[in-house]
Amino acid sequence: MPVILAIESSCDETSASVCADGNILSNIIANQTIHEAYGGVVPELASRVHQQNIVPAVQQALLNAKVNKNDIDAVAFTRGPGLLGSLLVGVSFAKAFALAKNIPLIEVNHMQAHVLAHFIGDHQPAFPFLCLTVSGGHTQIVLVNDYFDMEIVGQTLDDAAGEAMDKTSKILGLPYPGGPLIDKHARSGNPDAYKFPEPQIPGFDFSFSGLKTSILYFIRDNVAANPNFIEENINDICASVEKRIATILLNKLRKAAEQYGITDVALAGGVSANTGLRQGLQQLGEKLGWRTFIPKMEYCTDNAAMIAIAGYHKYLKGEFIGQEIAPLARMPF
Ligand code: KG4
Ligand code: ZN
Repeated sequence: MPVILAIESSCDETSASVCADGNILSNIIANQTIHEAYGGVVPELASRVHQQNIVPAVQQALLNAKVNKNDIDAVAFTRGPGLLGSLLVGVSFAKAFALAKNIPLIEVNHMQAHVLAHFIGDHQPAFPFLCLTVSGGHTQIVLVNDYFDMEIVGQTLDDAAGEAMDKTSKILGLPYPGGPLIDKHARSGNPDAYKFPEPQIPGFDFSFSGLKTSILYFIRDNVAANPNFIEENINDICASVEKRIATILLNKLRKAAEQYGITDVALAGGVSANTGLRQGLQQLGEKLGWRTFIPKMEYCTDNAAMIAIAGYHKYLKGEFIGQEIAPLARMPF
């Protein structure tokens, strides 16, 4: 019954989790609010705050799990992809802990871990399944053949879906990160109030940069005619943008599911917290007879529990790595 300590520090969340035999016992997430003032994550500041938060986060994760340091059998950590300075904090901590306790190290790919978050709890997809992984940096349709046998069948050619949310919110004058605020305003808006274009990209790939430009021009023209346009219509604008982003994502997901003959379909990553996207997938699933898998809120955005579950499955396969390991800003599957 392996007890695994997991560390996540790829972007602006410092997170630590303990899992025993695949059951998550704790999942501590220290958010960094310092970036709000800058309208986006400042890498240099993120690394410094990780440095401050990492030990308290691990101590709290051990405490909540009622596990002693000496009971840990292996340390799993995010090797990449992510911000190099941020990753270095987690990787160095994991190496030092493993060295001190003479226990194995397990490297985890952050994007694979978002997918593997579906193996926390009882409602688990069956292989092969499709996972739409949508975050601030990535937008991928992943064909998941096995725990660590994943293939990206579609991805964004420019901006990620989360970036489209965050850039739209910036255009609207909302603070960073804007995704959750777009979601909040959208709940009181009419999603059919405004029509934004759907890009015509072949295959299962995505593009969001044209949408961003059309939103920018739409706002600029309307504000020129009425300076109060944004504040008078913020809910309808957010609902319409959210609906367009969700339909772009779900239309491609549907095409991929048809092409690969898949009926188990999952969502992952920070944007999977979005209410419109969650409801959209559920409705599509009911219509097409899919089994749908939508992560609990705490496993949508960055967290170490997903690193722990990925680490657990690597532990079972005996996949460990040495102390010479270094983080990777870009890390293919
Ligand atoms: O996976 P994540 O926490 O970090 C990355 O690895 O990027 O994803 C963060 C992204 C941000 O763009 C944020 O605005 C978006 O997820 N996000 C949302 C919601 N919650 C987070 N977007 C739309 N609606 C939400 N409720
Ligand atoms: Zn992420």
